[in-house]
Amino acid sequence: MKNFFSVKDVFNVYDLIKETIYLKKNPYKFNNIGKNKTIGLVFFNHSLRTRISCQKAAFNLGCNTWILNINKDSWKIEVNDGIIMDNTQEHIKEAISVMSLYCDILAVRTFPNLINKDYDYKEILFKKILKYSKVPIVNMESATLHPLQSLSDLITIAECTNFFKKRCKVVLSWAPHVKALPHSVANSFSQWILKINKIDFTIVCPKKYELNEKFSNGAKIRHNQNEAFIDADFIYAKNWSSYLYYGKILGDHRDWMITKNKMNITNKAKFMHCLPVRRNIVVEDSVLDSDDCIVLKQAENRVYASQIIFLKILQSLS
Ligand code: CP
Repeated sequence: MKNFFSVKDVFNVYDLIKETIYLKKNPYKFNNIGKNKTIGLVFFNHSLRTRISCQKAAFNLGCNTWILNINKDSWKIEVNDGIIMDNTQEHIKEAISVMSLYCDILAVRTFPNLINKDYDYKEILFKKILKYSKVPIVNMESATLHPLQSLSDLITIAECTNFFKKRCKVVLSWAPHVKALPHSVANSFSQWILKINKIDFTIVCPKKYELNEKFSNGAKIRHNQNEAFIDADFIYAKNWSSYLYYGKILGDHRDWMITKNKMNITNKAKFMHCLPVRRNIVVEDSVLDSDDCIVLKQAENRVYASQIIFLKILQSLS
């Protein structure tokens, strides 16, 4: 594996999930491969899980890490080309080129501006990072995708279903939020889960919150949450802003919160969320605190999702 941007960089998703589950059982098996190797972790946006799980993954492989929080720890970075830099101190061209001299893998989290659909969906910033880096790049969440989260989500479902041994129904449910959020988790989850044959996949959201078809094509799209929840084995809750009215929140929709009553409609479904989650806005306490909630399992699997990707890249370097 040269770079890891999306599921398209994965040769076989089933094999990758199997290998990750094996790695989870043998986390230190490859702890020599990272000797004298460094992974740089660069954040243009906040993080708790991604930041720490990637550090732990690197540690399990014997790698060093460094972390840079752009615009907090570094000079203010200019990302536009041909600009007179009156208000910014360092251009992304030099910044990424230099950072890539100080590591063997560069993992980067960017963000969408949620204003310019074209800029976000063309992944302009991430493409610049890929262009200027001299080492392999790992996507720790870009403007439109969060592949390490999705791999972790699929591992979690595989573990709960004994590696997809029987057909199951997974529902990605839009849930309310107070802020306009990116589409990356939802797009990416959809893109990955549609690779698994035995999963019956539904996306339920209010009208005008449909995701970009490039990622959701193949999913059943529904607008009635209660109907969509019938027979569900997994409910994955996530808020996203409108794609159609790009980056906008279209009303309150508090009645879309995931509640115990709604979970009772399902087939004793497991509750999933990528975290962080706003309690009693996205999901009721009683759901998040129930035995059917598997959000911590998802978070735990973030370590092994990152570890397998770093391992594959390190193997390709040696
Ligand atoms: N789920 C996730 O990516 O969490 P962080 O934003 O805290 O990294």
